[in-house]
Amino acid sequence: MAMPKLLLFVHLLAVIVWIGGMSFVLFCLRPASADLLPAQRAPLMVATLERFFLQVTIAILAIWVTGLAMLLPVGMAAAPPGWHMMLAGGVVMTLVFVWIRWVIFPAARRAAGTSDLPAAAASLGRIRLLVVVNLVLGVLTIAAATLAA
Ligand code: HEM
Repeated sequence: MAMPKLLLFVHLLAVIVWIGGMSFVLFCLRPASADLLPAQRAPLMVATLERFFLQVTIAILAIWVTGLAMLLPVGMAAAPPGWHMMLAGGVVMTLVFVWIRWVIFPAARRAAGTSDLPAAAASLGRIRLLVVVNLVLGVLTIAAATLAA
């Protein structure tokens, strides 16, 4: 099997983990958890996001390593516009994730740990908004990667 095919396979697998996970959290887990008591909901969301964010960290590393391994031999000058857009999408999505995981999530975890439920709910709400941003950017990036010339 050709190496670029293997790189693309891992690249797409990692994209699927990231985008699919965001979709599951937003459209399945979060609405279902809204029926729980706040004292149950906050720890559930924090424990779930803790595991999901570890997966996303690994997925992002895989996306960057495989993406650059496919892009650099071709070079930016020769790369099609869709690849440039994908790189831009990847940069912004990565920055948004770093902000979620290392700025907002620690506050949510601390608040849930000390049973400060209103503060936990506020942080979880901010995380939700930024995950919406990254899901929209992710869909646009996939569109750019597949549809742009
Ligand atoms: C972070 C930096 C990234 C780089 C450097 C990068 C680079 C690349 C390259 C060079 C290819 C082309 C492989 C080929 O056709 O031979 C590719 C494919 C692809 N990438 Fe990325 N990528 C990045 C991030 C992303 C992100 C964040 C997404 C989605 C959210 C994404 C989605 C895709 C998809 C769907 C393809 C398949 C396109 C197709 O073959 O039609 N990439 N990537």
